[in-house]
Amino acid sequence: HKKGFIFDLDGVIVDTAKYHFMAWKQLSKDLGISFSEAQNEQLKGVSRVKSLEKILAWGNKTISDEMFENLMAKKNEEYLSYIAKMDASEILPEVESVLVFLKEGNQKIALGSASKNARTILSKVKLLHYFEAIVDGTNVKNAKPDPEVFLLASEAIKINPEDCIVFEDSIAGIQAANTAGMLSIGIGNEKVLHEADFVFQNFSKMPNGFLMSLINNEPN
Ligand code: BG6
Ligand code: MG
Repeated sequence: HKKGFIFDLDGVIVDTAKYHFMAWKQLSKDLGISFSEAQNEQLKGVSRVKSLEKILAWGNKTISDEMFENLMAKKNEEYLSYIAKMDASEILPEVESVLVFLKEGNQKIALGSASKNARTILSKVKLLHYFEAIVDGTNVKNAKPDPEVFLLASEAIKINPEDCIVFEDSIAGIQAANTAGMLSIGIGNEKVLHEADFVFQNFSKMPNGFLMSLINNEPN
């Protein structure tokens, strides 16, 4: 059976979620707005624009459009300064062996990310060549939890949504996968990602044979 495996990037393939957090935290501090870990969970998977809107709303702040653009640019500059130092050692546990397993099994692999920096990061950690399609923040109009990003990915790899499996570390992304009619697999904390069909702390916690059972349509 041919399936489509769609990976989120930040927090699933690489641990860039911490860099987004650091950059947003600095920006919030500069604005005199504090935000909690729980609020940070709500920023995961969410586009740059939506993230800044949320932070401003939490701090009860309104700013000019020009200031908004400036802050987004500043956040991305800081984020990119962390990315510049990244290498393959920052690939999360077992990610590459999962990609190799799927590739060798002739499965379809796509990226479904909100980030406009997705290609830069994938090439930085030398994983770009595994992906048959990349759908990212430069292609998508509606941010997660809208299913657009995953539906575009399934189209690009020509696999029906019901035969697609999504790996996600964010609440918004799990909701997007569920709405797309795909199997959702949370990577991270099961309390946070309780809406997912399955949750593993990371890929190394995924039982042997789990991926094979998905490919063979076996119940888990
Ligand atoms: C998502 C991250 O993958 O991409 C978010 O989880 C981030 O934290 C979003 O805001 C947009 O990323 P970028 O790189 O375009 O600012
Ligand atoms: Mg993510």
